[in-house]
Amino acid sequence: MSGEMGGSMAREAGQSASRPLEAITPVEIFDHLKKGVLGQDGALRYVSVAVYKHVTGKVPGNILLIGSSGTGKTTIMNNIQRLYQEVPEYLPFRAMTIINANLLVDADRLEFRPDRLMAAVEQRARALLGGRATAEELRQAMERATICIDEVDKMSSVVAGKPNPLGVVLQQGLLTLMEGEHVAYRTHAVTDDGEEKPVTLDLDTGHMMFICGGAFEELYDQVYLRVTKPGSGERLKSHAIQTADGQVRIEERFSLADFLKIEDLFEYGMVPQFIARFDNIVLLNDLTVDVLKAILLKSYDSPFIRSRRYFDVMGIDLEIEDLAAALIAEAAEKHSRTGARALRTIFGKIVNRLEFDPEGSNRLEEGEDGRKRLRITADMVRRVTAA
Ligand SMILES: Nc1ncnc2c1ncn2[C@@H]1O[C@H](COP(=O)(O)OP(=O)(O)OP(=O)(O)O)[C@@H](O)[C@H]1O
Ligand SMILES: [Mg+2]
Repeated sequence: MSGEMGGSMAREAGQSASRPLEAITPVEIFDHLKKGVLGQDGALRYVSVAVYKHVTGKVPGNILLIGSSGTGKTTIMNNIQRLYQEVPEYLPFRAMTIINANLLVDADRLEFRPDRLMAAVEQRARALLGGRATAEELRQAMERATICIDEVDKMSSVVAGKPNPLGVVLQQGLLTLMEGEHVAYRTHAVTDDGEEKPVTLDLDTGHMMFICGGAFEELYDQVYLRVTKPGSGERLKSHAIQTADGQVRIEERFSLADFLKIEDLFEYGMVPQFIARFDNIVLLNDLTVDVLKAILLKSYDSPFIRSRRYFDVMGIDLEIEDLAAALIAEAAEKHSRTGARALRTIFGKIVNRLEFDPEGSNRLEEGEDGRKRLRITADMVRRVTAA
C-alpha cells in the first residue's frame, strides 16, 4: 500500500504504522469509536464493519443514521474522523468530510452541486498530501474519502405539506453519486515537468464511503399515528425504564425502532431510489438515564470533565456526587427533544455561578492535600431542576 501513497504520507505512515489494515479488526474500531459515542452500540457495530471494509478495499455499503435530536448522529461522524486521525495506519483515509446536505444544492438555480462536496474533500486531501500533490496522488486520496452528509432529513421532497423541489434535486443528485459515478473534477496539480497546471480529475465515487444522517423529527409522530390508529393491528411494546435511584419500571412506550417500515420513509418524503442506495438503515437509541449519566461524566465531550479542567486551572478540584449526576441525567431524559444537549444546559445552570466566582460561592472546602475542593451535591441539582 505504501508504494501508492504520496511522499509525505508514506513517510509519516512508515514511522509509526506497522500493522496491515486487515489486522485492525472491526472490534478494535468499535472500541475506539465507543470512547466518544455512548449507548449506540448497535449503530457503532454497523459503522465499524463499514469502516473495516472501506479501509481494506471492499465495498462498505452506505449507511443511513436515523435518530432523535441529540442522540449522537453528528457525534458518530466526528468520532469516525477522530478514529482516522488517531490510528496512524489510517493516514491515507484522512480526507474525510462532514457536510450538511443543504450545502450541496443551489437553491436559486435548483441545481445539485457535487463540486462543493468534492472541493471540501480536495481541501482535506491537500492538507494530507502537503503542498505539491500530483493529479494521481490527489485522485487517490480523494477516492479514499469517507463522506458524511448530515441533516439529510431537511431535504425531504415534502416540507410542511408542500412539494420541495430542492429536496428532490438533492436526493436525486446524491443517489447517482452514491451509486458510483465518475465525476470530472477540475482543479490544479503538479505535472511531470514539476509545474502546477490545471487538471481534470476523473473521480470514481464508487470507492468512497457514504454515511448520511438525519433526525427525521416528524417521522416519529407519523409512525406513531399509523400504529395507534384504530384498526392498525399494531400494539405498543413494553420497555424497561430506569429511574435515577436505580429502580426499573415497565412502561408501554412508543419506540420508532419497533415499527419503522421503509414505506414510512417514502411517506416522509424520501425518494425511494435514494433510500434504496442504503445498504443499512440504522436507528439510534433514545438515550436512557444511565447512558446520559455516563455522557455527563465520561464521554470525550463530557460537560463535567470540561468544567473540571476549568476549575483545575484555578487550583480547585471539582467533584460530583453520584446521585447528583443521576439527577442531572434524569432531568435531561425528561427533555427528550434535545437528547444529550439537555445535559449541558442543566449542568451549565448549576456550575455557572460557581465558575464565575468560586471563592464567593461559600462552597469551597479544604482538601487533605491542601488543594481546594468543590463538590456538586444532589441538593444543588434539585434546586436548579425544581425551578
Ligand atoms: N450517544 C452519545 N454519546 C456521547 N455523547 C453524545 C451522544 N449523543 C449526544 N451526545 C452529546 O450531545 C451533543 C449533541 O449530540 P449530536 O450533535 O451528536 O446530536 P445529533 O444526533 O446529531 O442531533 P441533531 O439531530 O439535533 O443534529 C454532542 O455534543 C455530544 O457531546
Ligand atoms: Mg446533528
